[in-house]
Amino acid sequence: MNIETKLPAGTDLIEEIKRLRTERKAVILAHYYQTPDIQDIADFVGDSLELSKKAAATDAEVIAFCGVKFMADTAKILSPEKIVVLPDMEAGCSLEDSCPPEKFKAFREAHPDHIALTYINCSTEVKALSDVIVTSSSAETILQQIPLDQKIIFGPDRHLGGYLARKFNRDMLLWPGVCIVHEAFSETELMKLKAQHPGAPVAAHPECPPAIIDHADYVGSTSGILNFAKTFPGDTLIVATEPHIIHQMEKALPGKQFIGAPGADGNCNCNICPYMALNTMEKLYVALRDLEPRIEIEEGLRLAAKKSLDRMLEMASGAVGQGDLGGAVMTGA
Ligand code: 13P
Ligand code: SF4
Repeated sequence: MNIETKLPAGTDLIEEIKRLRTERKAVILAHYYQTPDIQDIADFVGDSLELSKKAAATDAEVIAFCGVKFMADTAKILSPEKIVVLPDMEAGCSLEDSCPPEKFKAFREAHPDHIALTYINCSTEVKALSDVIVTSSSAETILQQIPLDQKIIFGPDRHLGGYLARKFNRDMLLWPGVCIVHEAFSETELMKLKAQHPGAPVAAHPECPPAIIDHADYVGSTSGILNFAKTFPGDTLIVATEPHIIHQMEKALPGKQFIGAPGADGNCNCNICPYMALNTMEKLYVALRDLEPRIEIEEGLRLAAKKSLDRMLEMASGAVGQGDLGGAVMTGA
């Protein structure tokens, strides 16, 4: 059934979502790439690591996850007793799509002396085949806890993996996946924009290709980029990540100018994540009303995937010493 036909005429979406949130004892979690209306109604807006932590810690009975499917899956893996709804179940991710579990399994089997350090932008099955999950905000901390002589497979984002390999001089085997959104930034157009705004720094997400990263004054997760925006001394910032994050910047710093980095046509619309864009206020309302579409994960698979996520949560806080790592990590896959 078409979603609009399920909405009673004249529904005040904001009021209805608030009412249902209370009635359902729900928490609304949203990623920075969601549209401003969704960000503004959410109880918490954050990057992937922060959203995972919130999902693990909430005492709400329902998590309405406004993000993409691997994020909602992560919430369910960490909080299996909660009902987790995703407004649009088709909200996927090109990185997840680039890494089919059976191919990843074969790749791992071909490199038995490597551990799998895997970006959270992947399926539950790939998490279950991995040793440690990382997010863009935890990857550096986690990589630095892995002994230098330990061989590593990094997937599925070759740009994040390449960035880490260059920064820490680590020779990692990279899975050839990319984010279609960050891949679309154009170095030529970025150079033109920089020329129009001399002195404006560039903040970039590590999913960007190296040609964009090379021009960045700051590289980090969405939350890292937001913090940079709140502290940089100038008045104009060029933002090389999905442009909906600019909503938070404009709210926090109304006097400053935030410009989305351009795509090849000079227009940054191609950098809107098409998967995140599938979630709408209407679908959020329906998800809270019907408690559907709901994330379900088979228990054996969930427990297998939880191991690599738990390890991320421990290592992201620096809780695991190098001594703990060898045995624990190597038994993962
Ligand atoms: P963050 O963890 O930095 O929010 O990244 C999530 C993501 O999908 C970026 O494309
Ligand atoms: Fe996936 Fe890229 Fe969209 Fe993030 S921006 S969810 S990595 S497709």
